[in-house]
Amino acid sequence: MTTNVDREVALPNLMHASAYVNGIPHDLFDYIRSQPGLFWFPVEGPITEHGGVWILTRTKDIREVDGDGERFICGLGLLHPMMMPMEDTFMGDNLMSMDGARHARVRRVIARGFGPRMVAGFEPWIREIVTETLDELVATKGPLDYVPAVAAAIPSRVIARILGVPLEDRPFIVRITTDLFAATQGEAGQDVVANLTRVFQELFDYVETTLMPLKREHPGQDMSTVITQGFDAGEVTLKEALFLHQLIMNAGFETTHTTIGRSMWLMLEDPEIERKTWAALDEVGSGLVVDEFLRYISPVIHFVRVAAVETEVAGQKIRKGDQLAMFFTAANRDPETFTDPHTFDPWRNEAGSLTFGAGPHRCLGAPVARLQVQILFEEMAKRNIRLRMAGEPKRGYSNFINAIAEIPVEVISGS
Ligand code: HEM
Repeated sequence: MTTNVDREVALPNLMHASAYVNGIPHDLFDYIRSQPGLFWFPVEGPITEHGGVWILTRTKDIREVDGDGERFICGLGLLHPMMMPMEDTFMGDNLMSMDGARHARVRRVIARGFGPRMVAGFEPWIREIVTETLDELVATKGPLDYVPAVAAAIPSRVIARILGVPLEDRPFIVRITTDLFAATQGEAGQDVVANLTRVFQELFDYVETTLMPLKREHPGQDMSTVITQGFDAGEVTLKEALFLHQLIMNAGFETTHTTIGRSMWLMLEDPEIERKTWAALDEVGSGLVVDEFLRYISPVIHFVRVAAVETEVAGQKIRKGDQLAMFFTAANRDPETFTDPHTFDPWRNEAGSLTFGAGPHRCLGAPVARLQVQILFEEMAKRNIRLRMAGEPKRGYSNFINAIAEIPVEVISGS
């Protein structure tokens, strides 16, 4: 099997945020996908054991790796620049960094809180949050930034409510969520760890001394109650319980925020996308429309796995310790899985999207994320809310999330 292992690679550093400043380089991923076997990408520095990373762009290769938690593990790092044995860092107690039986035990505790009965009950209050946010939006005169006004406002309010954070503490939770994301954007592994440790400590103090005692005294239908009861029953340690709070905040905020922000940006920059969106909402409803935005945007760019054993993927020999970067964003444009994958088609009804991953770590919040964005589109359509761009939108700086920083808009119609 030929690979590019010994070839010169004149590509931007796909493992670095600088490769994503102007958007996702889909042409490069298309090129990589068209090459036989797997594509070896050299990365300098101490963060890879073998001086590079395998870049995975095909749906079937990513499904194989993401779906096999025995051959491909998370405990040796999930993301550049944070590749290091997780058990040597504070991140070892984070669900996403766990493998095997420990992962299954901790995941079981929060999976309870995302069961169908629990999520079905979310619909009315999510609609209330969306309605309130849109009331504020249409009441604003003149230009405004859609990111804090809508894209960040809805998921941060939803997450605070899912966790059961009291109203007066919600601004604190919103700030911590933003600080946590900013802290992951450092250049060197140790800086990232130091920055994260500082923000985590602030969050953990609040959860341990305020939120968990409150949930013991006044249990509710919320995730913090579920986690506190799991801790009190001895199912998770205190550290695991604290990290579960953090994970729900982080995993649920930046991703949904990106979906809401980027979908509006796409509609405002491309009248054809806007036309198709309103037409499809009317004809097939919000489910398919939102699924297509999730595929097309792919909020999570990639996660890394490390081979725990010597093995093979796509005919390529993989050494123990090799890193495999699963580019969900590229798989979601794989022509083997999607017809005409670079076209936004909200009538599309094709399964196989990897937006929420696949395998033991697949996203627990997918139904909640979908519900928020669906309700937002439904309410905007019902109230005939239309916007126009009022300045230059700005992307975030990340190799992990297809992040959006600013979208200046003006409301042109709607009640
Ligand atoms: C559009 C929004 C979202 C996207 C694109 C997204 C995407 C993802 C992805 C790609 C993973 C890793 C999957 C894998 O490795 O196979 C993940 C894991 C996870 N997500 Fe989401 N997510 C979203 C929203 C949410 C929300 C709203 C929550 C909770 C409120 C959430 C909670 C989680 C948790 C707890 C995990 C870790 C599961 C584990 O390690 O076992 N996510 N998500």
